[in-house]
This record gives sequence, C-alpha cells and structure tokens, in this order.
Amino acid sequence: MSDFTVRAAGAGDYAELRGVFAGAMMFEPGADEFGPRMFEPERALVVTDGAEIVGTTRALTRDLSVPGAVVPAAHVTGVGVKATHRRRGIMAELISRQLREVPEAIAVLWASESGIYGRFGYAAAAWGLSYEIDLHRVGPSSVKARPGEISELPAEGAIKELAPLLLALQERRPGVSGRSDLKWQQHLEDKPDERGGKTARQILVHRDETGTIDGYALWRGKMHWTATGPANEVHLEELVALTPRAYQTLWQHLLTLDLAGTLEFGFAAIDEPLQQLVTTPTALNRRVSESLWVRVTDVPRALEQRRYAAAVDLVLDITDDLIPANTGRFHLTTGETVSCKPTESPADLTVSVTELGAIYLGGRQLAEFATTGRVTEQTPGALTQATAAFGWPTAPVSLEIF
Ligand SMILES: CC(C)(COP(=O)(O)OP(=O)(O)OC[C@H]1O[C@@H](n2cnc3c(N)ncnc32)[C@H](O)[C@@H]1OP(=O)(O)O)[C@@H](O)C(=O)NCCC(=O)NCCS
Repeated sequence: MSDFTVRAAGAGDYAELRGVFAGAMMFEPGADEFGPRMFEPERALVVTDGAEIVGTTRALTRDLSVPGAVVPAAHVTGVGVKATHRRRGIMAELISRQLREVPEAIAVLWASESGIYGRFGYAAAAWGLSYEIDLHRVGPSSVKARPGEISELPAEGAIKELAPLLLALQERRPGVSGRSDLKWQQHLEDKPDERGGKTARQILVHRDETGTIDGYALWRGKMHWTATGPANEVHLEELVALTPRAYQTLWQHLLTLDLAGTLEFGFAAIDEPLQQLVTTPTALNRRVSESLWVRVTDVPRALEQRRYAAAVDLVLDITDDLIPANTGRFHLTTGETVSCKPTESPADLTVSVTELGAIYLGGRQLAEFATTGRVTEQTPGALTQATAAFGWPTAPVSLEIF
C-alpha cells in the first residue's frame, strides 16, 4: 500500500471511479443517468497508482430505520479494487479510513462476499429471505379482492403515491433505507434494454375502502412455456403493505396470475408471514442469506439514537481495534430517555463493536454470541437483560441492494 496514495475524490473522478468498480464487479458501465447526479465526491475515497485510480469506496447520505427511530446512516457502496492491484492492502486502507471519517454513528452496506467486512467490525445485522415459489403447488388461500381494490398505477406520477408508504414502513420495520426523490427515480427507472426478456415493470396498488393506497407491489412477468404447458415467471421486486388486507390481497393477486408457474422474490424479511397465507409453505422454497451489514462507528451516539424493547441499566465493556474512541466502558440506561456515557464502573458484559453491529437492528440475539464466547457475561442476568433490550418485535428488512 505504501506505493499508492489515498485521497478524497473530486467531482471529475466519477466516470473513472465507476469504471474501476464496474471492472471489479464485471459489469459494463454503460449509460448512467442517475449515478453522476447522486455522486457525493466529498464522501468518496480513491487510491491512485500514479495518475490512475485503482481502488474506490463511496458513501451515500441516506437515512435508515432502526428500532424505534429513523437515523442517518452512511450507505457504503462502490467498493472495488482493480484486479491488477488486488491483495496489496488497498481495500483495507480505504475501508479503515472511511470508517474513521464518516460523520454518522453507523455505516451500512451489502457485501458481495461474506468474508470481506467482518475484519473491519461490520456484522450481518439483517437476514434476508428469498422465495422461489412453485405456484402450481403453493395453494394460496381464497381471499377475494373487491372490484377496484387492486389496480395498476402508471409509472408517471407514481413516486408521490408510493413514497409515503415507504416512510410508513420505516416507522414499522428496522433496516429500511430512505429514498430521496432522485433515488426513487433511479429505483423506478426501467430501461427496455435492461429487462432481460421480462415485461416492463408493473406497479400494482391496493386501495382501502376510502380509495387510499395502503400497499403496493413492483413486479415484472416473463413468458415461458414448457412441453407440458405454460410456466410463466413472476418476478416480484418489492412489496409494501401497511394493512393485513393489503398484504393478503396483493399476495393473492400475485400468487394466482394466469399462466404463471413460478414467483421469485429476493427481499422478504426473515419473519415474513407469507407462509400463513398459503396451504403448502414448503412450495415457497425459502432461502436465507445475509442482507444488511452494520458497523457502529460511534458507540455512545449509536446506542442513544435507537430504542430498546425492554428496560436496561448495564455497563458494557467494548473493544474496537479500528476506532479507539469506541474502546472502553459505557453505561447504557433506558427510561424516559436513553443514555450511553463513558464510565469507570465495572462491566456487566464484555463485547466487541462487531457484535454491537450485529444486534443493532434488533434482528439478531446477543445471547447467540455468548455460545461462541464473543460476548462474556460479568454480572449474572446481564446477558438476558441485554438480549431482551436489544431485540425488537419486527425483524429488519433491507429492500434494495445499493
Ligand atoms: C474485495 C476487494 C475490494 C478486495 O480488495 P483488496 O485491495 O484486494 O483487499 P485487501 O488487499 O485490502 O485485503 C484486505 C484483507 O481482506 C481479505 N480479502 C480481500 N478480498 C476478500 C474476499 N473477497 N473475501 C474474503 N477476504 C478477502 C484479504 O485476504 C486481506 O486479508 P488479510 O488482512 O488477512 O491479509 C477486491 O478484491 C474487489 O474489488 N473485488 C471485486 C469487487 C467486490 O467484490 N467488491 C466488494 C463489493 S461489496
């Protein structure tokens, strides 16, 4: 790494920086309408070899729902190192510096590979569930939508109808990233040459008795016939439902589309209740994977900005190899307000910043880490108390890879 230079990116670096990332991920950069408009050069770092950029990382300014709050979170993206410069410490330098510099109390990312980010104190904090539903076997229940309850929405003008639902979801579930108007535009972009044989995106909405939209689904179809008949594919991209009725009827509609054989969906929460709606849950073909990774960059601020499912009054002894200010004992108390302050009092629990990231969204249990010795209980009962407090009734979900 000593042969190279790390520097903040400039506004003019975007195309080269994107080229490095695209090369590392093996996709063709192509036309990119939104990337340059969303680029925050002051939040990007590059490593150069002479005049050439050989490594990059970026952060996007977005908010994230966490237990009981919506908070700023550095959304880390665009991590890539040229294949010619791999395994010389470039990424390590970029990620370490980025984590020390981000102003937010937490950083989040989706990892291309599980083995990369744990060494920097990131931990998978949300499990994602994906479905590959066999529609011939699944046997959905017989909810019947009344006329007008489910309809299609034209893409034009859709953002102002859908955006409030995402905000409402953020109030209900941790792990959901906020979207600016520009981000919504990018999210709903639908280039014909990138559809891969699928239809244009369809926006399905559910309306309550008063005509108010309280759920939506974004999906595409793909025609597919086999020797034995139709087996069309339904590709569900996103489903947000604010009421049980919206949830039931949107799913019922999608599970019963004519000619369809399979439905794929990659962004369900681990506690997704879809199995309650169908008669053969095994036909959902569920698969669990890591989704959002969290890194706590400022312990007291991060612990004060979320809420807790149970009262807690504990001293946590925390270690952080990368950010010295996070190492030490902190007194966490909840009540009218949450307080997390440095203290000299003896510790009730010893834990590293990595485990704090894992439990931060309430989707993993602190007690899980006691089994492997990654959290140690100093005061009997402290682990039970902390596990209950850091948990949350709804599992986190991340709706998009950013
Ligand atoms: C992943 C990538 C950014 C790593 O960059 P790099 O500069 O080669 O990484 P470094 O040399 O700084 O490696 C630091 C450590 O991470 C390890 N590491 C690097 N890539 C890894 C991977 N894909 N899986 C597991 N460990 C990895 C290294 O072995 C090294 O470990 P060590 O400290 O024990 O020696 C680079 O290989 C790349 O661009 N890959 C393709 C694109 C990609 O996956 N980007 C991440 C998007 S989330």
